Amino acid sequence: MRKKIAAANWKMNTLQSEGKTLVANLLSTLPALSESRQVVIAPPFTQLVNVTAQLQGHAHIHASAQNCATEKSGAYTGEISAAMVTDAGAAYVIIGHSERREYYKEDNATLVKKSDIALENGLQVIFCCGEPLSVRDAETQNQYVETQIREGLFHYSTEQLKNIVIAYEPIWAIGTGRTASAQQAQDMHAHIRSVIAGKFGAEAADDMSILYGGSVKASNAIELFSCPDVDGGLVGGASLVAEEFTGIITAMVNS
Ligand code: PGA
Repeated sequence: MRKKIAAANWKMNTLQSEGKTLVANLLSTLPALSESRQVVIAPPFTQLVNVTAQLQGHAHIHASAQNCATEKSGAYTGEISAAMVTDAGAAYVIIGHSERREYYKEDNATLVKKSDIALENGLQVIFCCGEPLSVRDAETQNQYVETQIREGLFHYSTEQLKNIVIAYEPIWAIGTGRTASAQQAQDMHAHIRSVIAGKFGAEAADDMSILYGGSVKASNAIELFSCPDVDGGLVGGASLVAEEFTGIITAMVNS
């Protein structure tokens, strides 16, 4: 079943007390969620256990990690394994965020290892893709994103694909205040869905949740989420302000 999701990516922000207040404020104003209308919160690793504890008893709102290691366990100083993420109570992990691709040089082969091990550990993967401005200016964004999806996801079975959510995040729209227009988002999401359909079939493509990310705010969420192929958002900056993110959740629930 295709789910709509409002996902918060806190990135490297908030100390424990701030995170606790943010979640408490969100929970106090949360609209009714359901199997098909879900919320995901991705705090820094150090707060995963806190967030999971706070979400206890609240259905359809889940914790997520922002990353996981390529390896299972062992001598990898500073890494956090997928098993540790599951053990901390998270249900999701974000893989392939453009900041990981760009600043930490994570290529598609690395991302495949991460997604594989995340799925093996029962996590749902939020797989990020999206083009830089130079690619958008050259109007080759469709091919660029298709390659990311082909190299990142085409080795999975249709069954495995059910545990994957795609987040399309044009890099030029992340943290810049410059959102893709609803038409640009819809066009790319429809393209992504057709790429998935070409490989996995129409049913799998129809079931796939495809989130938009890049300067989503309460004020633009309604228009973006009303596009037929936009199934919610992956939200950075605006997810750090409880009333903004509540507005985004409400737009997702009503879409
Ligand atoms: P932004 O970040 O909402 O601050 O643009 C989105 C993301 O990077 O996931």
